[in-house]
Amino acid sequence: MKKVLSCIQPTGNMHFGNYFGAVKNYVDLQKDYNCVYGVVDYHAMTAPYNPVKLRQNTWEMIFNLLAVGVKAENLFIQSLIPEHAELGWIFNCYCSYGQLTRMTQFKDKSSTTGKSDDGFISAGLLGYPVLQAADILIYKADFVPVGKDQEQHLELTRNIAERFNKQVGKDYFVLPETLYTETPKVLSTADPSKKMSKSAGDKHYISVFEKEEVIRKKIKSAVTDAGDTPEGEMSAGVNNLFTILKASGKIEAHNALMEDFNNNALKYVDLKNAVADGLMTLTDKFNAKKSEIISDKKNIKNQIKASSNEIRKRAQETVKEVKDLAGLINIKF
Ligand code: TRP
Repeated sequence: MKKVLSCIQPTGNMHFGNYFGAVKNYVDLQKDYNCVYGVVDYHAMTAPYNPVKLRQNTWEMIFNLLAVGVKAENLFIQSLIPEHAELGWIFNCYCSYGQLTRMTQFKDKSSTTGKSDDGFISAGLLGYPVLQAADILIYKADFVPVGKDQEQHLELTRNIAERFNKQVGKDYFVLPETLYTETPKVLSTADPSKKMSKSAGDKHYISVFEKEEVIRKKIKSAVTDAGDTPEGEMSAGVNNLFTILKASGKIEAHNALMEDFNNNALKYVDLKNAVADGLMTLTDKFNAKKSEIISDKKNIKNQIKASSNEIRKRAQETVKEVKDLAGLINIKF
């Protein structure tokens, strides 16, 4: 079976943009691939952060991933596998400094979220993609399911692997490929000119664990027409509602309402009710699972420690081989 790896930053909440855009894919891939998924707390330190919150968010992200269907045995916490950082160091020496300074994400973040109020930008922000390369190559992943915005990081990962392979004179690392799956782009229902996101404020995202009344309210007040849509065309807001409806699995309702739209007979209230019902089907399931997890926290945490420890063995094996190849001293104490 081909190997898949992906990682996600511990950002406390999970909304439908994250779910439909990435996490649902993680869940589905588990059927056909040998998958490992990491919650990357070392990465979360590269921008200004709060240590207490980081630890909370890391567990919260684990609980959320489990609640939506990621299997415990496929999940790890990055900092429980310190070999990621060790391989990251080694890769720093196989990565071009100039290439790092030219990364789009570094350029963006070093002037926005990666910069603290006093102007501090950490060297970790520059090295972020090197650690990401270690996450991927340490498991010799064939495929990495990520969005288009990560293509540059995958390219850099392959460059590191190639440089390493060339120096040691063998094809040690597999060159990983991006696994693009058709994922719907979910927009903010309050402002369909923006992506659904937590940072834009409470009305711009819907949590996958949202309560019924909040979902109904947010969908009811969804923007359907900003008044600038030409006759016969579909506005971004309505299009977004159709996207969500389809993504939530309500294909029949979606098709029927689309026919209404085509016949100029669509009532927004019907579309909105269908969307709210669709999301509710998912949140009901997720909330039930999440309560189970929360009531059994201690046990769940132990499961994740155990799975991280199991996955760590693969990482240790790679680091041992890499140290041998790279000329480092390798003694088992
Ligand atoms: N950079 C990724 C993101 O922001 C997160 C990430 C870290 C990642 N390490 C990874 C993704 C390894 C895929 C593989 O979404």
